Amino acid sequence: MKITAALTAFTSIFITLTSAADVAAPKFSVSLDEPASSRWAESVTFMIDTYGFEHSFQNVLNYVYSLLPEPLVEKIEPLLLDLLREFPGEAGEEIKGIHQTITDLGYGDQISLGELTAINLMYEFTVFCTSIVAENSAGELFHGRNLDYSISGLQNLTAQIDFTRSGETVYKGTEFVGYVGLLTGMRPNGWSVSVDQRATYDFANATKKDSLEGLVENLLSAATGGSTIGMFLRNTLESETNFSNAVTKLKKEKLIAPVYLTVAGTNHLEGAVITRNRLRPDQSHREGVWSLTEDDHFRLVTNYDHWDDVPEDDNRRDPANDCMNQYDFDSLSLTGSIYECLSTALVLNKGTVYTTLMNPKEDIFETTIRNQNTP
Ligand SMILES: *[C@@H]1O[C@H](CO)[C@@H](O)[C@H](O)[C@H]1NC(C)=O
Ligand SMILES: *[C@@H]1O[C@H](CO)[C@@H](O)[C@H](O)[C@H]1NC(C)=O
Ligand SMILES: *[C@@H]1O[C@H](CO)[C@@H](O)[C@H](O)[C@H]1NC(C)=O
Repeated sequence: MKITAALTAFTSIFITLTSAADVAAPKFSVSLDEPASSRWAESVTFMIDTYGFEHSFQNVLNYVYSLLPEPLVEKIEPLLLDLLREFPGEAGEEIKGIHQTITDLGYGDQISLGELTAINLMYEFTVFCTSIVAENSAGELFHGRNLDYSISGLQNLTAQIDFTRSGETVYKGTEFVGYVGLLTGMRPNGWSVSVDQRATYDFANATKKDSLEGLVENLLSAATGGSTIGMFLRNTLESETNFSNAVTKLKKEKLIAPVYLTVAGTNHLEGAVITRNRLRPDQSHREGVWSLTEDDHFRLVTNYDHWDDVPEDDNRRDPANDCMNQYDFDSLSLTGSIYECLSTALVLNKGTVYTTLMNPKEDIFETTIRNQNTP
């Protein structure tokens, strides 16, 4: 007995140590009643106070410079500031406010307003992810996602945000503080969404190529008053209260890039992966909407069309599907099977920044920061 107890204690210490790098994301409330210019002050201040500018915003700036050399960014600063004025809704005011907070903290000379604008335009184009939507036999809907990114250090900007109005949560999201769009979000008792990049097929250079193409697309779109995917998703979470209306909007709206949108609702079979082209859903398979059915209890997408093969050098889909297929309708759960499958080797990788688990009906939204790089 003693030996078993000692072993159990040893095992639990061991498990604690090996998983110590994964931590719950810090949580903040962003009041939409507050002026756009000050809503982000608390979370921006937290990130800089906790990690230092160098280990938070500087990581992202380095990434900007890896795509666009610093002198070039300086040259296009006036263009970026013009674009900022064209951003839809309050996005431009929020970005200005974030820059003001950074300036108040003494780092205004390290990052210009134009650079912060560029970050908001380029963030979403190297997002390699895995999204799963599933329903169990009790009719509970689960939505999980990993967000993988090629910038190291995004962990130090990741936060879970409650967007509130009159003290009530309107929607929630996992945010990279400094970026005002949402790539993962949920409307409690409504619906949830996660975006996965739809990769072009130049695998060797996919990241850099997609980033640059994405940036150009975003610049052009912003120049004509269009919104980035992140801003579009945030606005849709704010305006649409249920799954069916959300899906209609996510199918229809003109987007600036092809993407996969994984959506979950609150009712039976309200789960789907939408495969989007810029103008409409991709019609080559089931009109672009791949829904749950009575026989298919989950849908899963990484960065490739589900009706096509995945490339050998980026096969996260098979391990994720193999993992999910171990579970039947009865044994599916959010913190069990979904989290486990998002933590399977390859699905969870060095690029994974966070895992978010969502259940809109039960108002569950939990983001875990993953630190596979850190021993
Ligand atoms: C994140 O912050 C921690 C604590 O300040 C720091 O040790 C680590 O290097 C940072 N990560 C990156 C990639 O900057
Ligand atoms: C990727 O880009 C590098 C540098 O631009 C180039 O040398 C290499 O040939 C490219 N690889 C492929 C497979 O296109
Ligand atoms: C979804 O929301 C729209 C608009 O808010 C409403 O008209 C519609 O009846 C709702 N549909 C369902 C199924 O609740």
